[in-house]
Amino acid sequence: MQDQLDKIVKETQDALSNAKDTASLEALRVKVLGKKGSMTQILRGMGAVSADQRPAMGRLVNEVRAKLEELINRQAENLSRMEKEMRLKLEAVDVTIPGTEPVMGKLHPLTQVVRQVQDIFVGMGFAVADGPEVETDHYNFELLNVPKNHPARDMQDSFYINGEIVLRTHTSPVQARIMTTRKPPIRIICPGRVYRVDQVDATHSPVFHQIEGLVIDKGIHLGHLKGTLDEFARRMYGESVKTRFRPSFFPFTEPSAEVDISCYLCGGKDPNCRVCHGSGWIEVLGCGMVNPNVLTMCGIDPQEYSGFAFGMGLDRITNGKYGITDLRLLFENDLRFLDQF
Ligand code: PHE
Repeated sequence: MQDQLDKIVKETQDALSNAKDTASLEALRVKVLGKKGSMTQILRGMGAVSADQRPAMGRLVNEVRAKLEELINRQAENLSRMEKEMRLKLEAVDVTIPGTEPVMGKLHPLTQVVRQVQDIFVGMGFAVADGPEVETDHYNFELLNVPKNHPARDMQDSFYINGEIVLRTHTSPVQARIMTTRKPPIRIICPGRVYRVDQVDATHSPVFHQIEGLVIDKGIHLGHLKGTLDEFARRMYGESVKTRFRPSFFPFTEPSAEVDISCYLCGGKDPNCRVCHGSGWIEVLGCGMVNPNVLTMCGIDPQEYSGFAFGMGLDRITNGKYGITDLRLLFENDLRFLDQF
């Protein structure tokens, strides 16, 4: 029996040094100390030991068992500490590694300009209004004093959905919509997309953008129109910019004017200037006092109220501001181009 015990101790010690993880150590524990383990077999064999030898033998067996148990437990502790350390090392996160920078989008240059113009007018007390792009002939033309067969329709060749429905040729129908539904005082601006039959080239597009303004109240006169647009020009292009009002014609305003601003790029000094082409002036918008016929048709009494309106093309303002020479670039949505603004 002594030999047997020595053998078990030796084998267990060898196996211990080979147990490289907690799982194989557990298997060893079962093999030695488990129900069918080698030490358990020895204890069972005690019955065959003669009575006088049994106490000494029993003590020895128990000592060996305790010793083996302790060896296995110590190794178990070692292994679990090593395994924990290993896991900490493997799962370590290096918080000093720089992160991946997210790609930041930005507003389209046109949208940036719309916001800028909008902010200026909102700062002067205007509210932003909206209207449909698919519009009726009634709002786009008739209420704006452009009856059917009127030659002024030639100025705005439109896309017809049918005889009565058009893609709006300007943002002015929003004026008519606001006047027919709201009571003065009215102070609105309306940015949006408009459509005209045009061949696509560097300066023409069948789709473009305008912003319309409308003020209706008691006692509104040309001085208000001029003051408002002068203030807009200064805020948009700087304190030193000058404006020039040229007489013009629009069926829905009387009198009507076109407004030029002094060239913010060359001040009129460069005969080859890309913005003013040497004239020193840049045409920015059309405007006028709302025609009394329009007020009447929209249900506002021209004896009591008067007003002014203006409309400007945003695409050209955007191109001037950013030095873009081809209108098409605004609509191609090439990120390599748009990313620059
Ligand atoms: N609707 C006109 C155009 O598109 C611009 C305009 C608006 C003129 C308001 C006068 C008043 O050409």
